[in-house]
Amino acid sequence: MTLTANSSAAPSAFAHGAGPMNPARFPSLQGRAVFVTGGGSGIGAAMVEAFAAAGARVGFVDVAAEASAELAGRIEAGGRPAPWWRACDVRDVAALQKAIADASGALGDFHALVNNVASDDRHTLESVTTEYWDNRMAINERPAFFAIQAVVPGMKRLGQGAIVNLGSTGWQSKASEYPCYAIAKSSVNGLTRGLAKSLGAHRIRINTVSPGWVMTERQVSKWLTPAGEDDIARNQCLPDKLLPEDIARMVLFLASDDGRMCTAQEFTVDAGWV
Ligand SMILES: NC(=O)c1ccc[n+]([C@@H]2O[C@H](COP(=O)([O-])OP(=O)(O)OC[C@H]3O[C@@H](n4cnc5c(N)ncnc54)[C@H](O)[C@@H]3O)[C@@H](O)[C@H]2O)c1
Repeated sequence: MTLTANSSAAPSAFAHGAGPMNPARFPSLQGRAVFVTGGGSGIGAAMVEAFAAAGARVGFVDVAAEASAELAGRIEAGGRPAPWWRACDVRDVAALQKAIADASGALGDFHALVNNVASDDRHTLESVTTEYWDNRMAINERPAFFAIQAVVPGMKRLGQGAIVNLGSTGWQSKASEYPCYAIAKSSVNGLTRGLAKSLGAHRIRINTVSPGWVMTERQVSKWLTPAGEDDIARNQCLPDKLLPEDIARMVLFLASDDGRMCTAQEFTVDAGWV
């Protein structure tokens, strides 16, 4: 496998099993302001890079300052404006909403919001305390709602907007090693569908993108065991490994005008996991 995730400022030609590909550019994103939570590494960083490569004005928050600074530097070194970013722990809702307001002050009203931040740390039913439960929900569930609350006034001013909430196929395939994460991720479709009608009246679209098992550096280093490799080979219909860029492409489509009439849906990018 060639892991090119987060290794280039312009992910225009990343390697797949079938060879390099030349993905779409979505010209409607040019000059538009976009905000990504948890954009400093993993899938979020691939989205930040892809939006920047499309000419969008990108803002993001992440708790990981070092990775975020490195990402911003990489984008700038690649000839694009450095994204606006701030080290922010999204468990602090006031800090998250302040970051969104400040980023909007610098970049303009947001055309698109991607609720990407999450943590899939492992735990058991028996080990979970109320404090741990609250902590998991404060990362995996609550920030999306309050980020939406912060960007919607600007989207209403623009007369349009696109919100993408990152779901997961993990709970759908009954993965059992992270019950609190599974519960939070299962609520993403409720968030999407519960807001689609009221936001739709303002031409604000809201969708879920649910990744399968994506080979971020964290996944590869922490969870990809030989048994996991067997799982992928057995369960995916497609032989190639999912890369962060594969998720970014779907997110960019939905954020762009190409996704104009898509709302209230779940889009799964999982290589056909059975
Ligand atoms: N990687 C996968 O296989 C996979 C599968 C299904 C769904 N997803 C979903 O895709 C999205 C991105 O996944 P990923 O694997 O890149 O995630 P990740 O675990 O790598 O984390 C995403 C980013 O969030 C940041 N972050 C974590 N806690 C934070 C906090 N409290 N405040 C601010 N930032 C914080 C991390 O530093 C990281 O940059 C998530 O919503 C995840 O649930 C991923």
